[in-house]
Amino acid sequence: MSDYVISINGEMTEEANAKISVLDHGFLFGDSVYEVVRTVGGKLFAADRHLKRLHGSAGAIGMTLQQDDNWYLDLWRKLHARREGGESYLRVIITRGVGQLDLHPATCETQTVIGIGKALNRWPDEHYAHGCKVILAKVRRNPKQSTDPAIKSGNYLNNVLAIIEARKQDAVEAIMLNVKGHVTECTTSNVFIIKDGVVKTPGLDEGLLEGVTRGFILQVCSELKLPVVEGQLTEQDILDADEVFITSTTRDVMPVGFIGDHKVRRTPGTLTIRIANAYHELLHDSKNHT
Ligand SMILES: Cc1ncc(COP(=O)(O)O)c(C=O)c1O
Repeated sequence: MSDYVISINGEMTEEANAKISVLDHGFLFGDSVYEVVRTVGGKLFAADRHLKRLHGSAGAIGMTLQQDDNWYLDLWRKLHARREGGESYLRVIITRGVGQLDLHPATCETQTVIGIGKALNRWPDEHYAHGCKVILAKVRRNPKQSTDPAIKSGNYLNNVLAIIEARKQDAVEAIMLNVKGHVTECTTSNVFIIKDGVVKTPGLDEGLLEGVTRGFILQVCSELKLPVVEGQLTEQDILDADEVFITSTTRDVMPVGFIGDHKVRRTPGTLTIRIANAYHELLHDSKNHT
């Protein structure tokens, strides 16, 4: 049996039959947007925030979603229900649709909506207990003036190159700098550091995806009355940090133990643990479940 449950344009489809046209502009040009939500106790976590970002991504590439929010909620719920037990990772991809072999999307009339569900695999416990390894990637994050990294789009080639670099060095993630040499984020997660009791993370102006988890972490820090700076961070700031952690929907708060060969001072640090615990409370708070 396949590890995936798949829906194409609202129809549940066996993986072997889950096919889209080679003339789909999502396939041809990466002309698509996507979102990933997870379940907690079988309910959708932070679905409102993911839908808001989905509209933002679509709007930024001049795409008006052809289905309403309830349709996507229903899709995610159906994908989860179709799986057998456990928590789900639920992805929705919306492409510009099938059109002529021409960059311009004028001939794409109907968006293609692909839903993919799978088990929400937990990352290895040792990453949380001792911190994971990340690298500082050589490949740079594309600038905001290009395809803005704030758009969760089908254009992830920079990130693909960076994760290839990371895996070659046995690292789970790669921190990417922008063309000015400032830290942005990792390939599929946001990055935070703690220095002298202050929580720091790159500001949105640096060119990065506004992670849903990042938003919750900022909320948690304010509730815990921890000072936070969203701004410019350099490679040296990362290496000088007392604590480093990365965040994403599938990882929650994952402490970083090594940046390349450099050992982070405290792993996991006391503030990272406090923030992670507070985030877990939000994760299990039914107010955030749909
Ligand atoms: C480039 C990038 N940054 C950050 C994140 C983390 O975002 P979230 O917390 O919404 O999962 C992701 C998630 O996939 C991502 O692709």
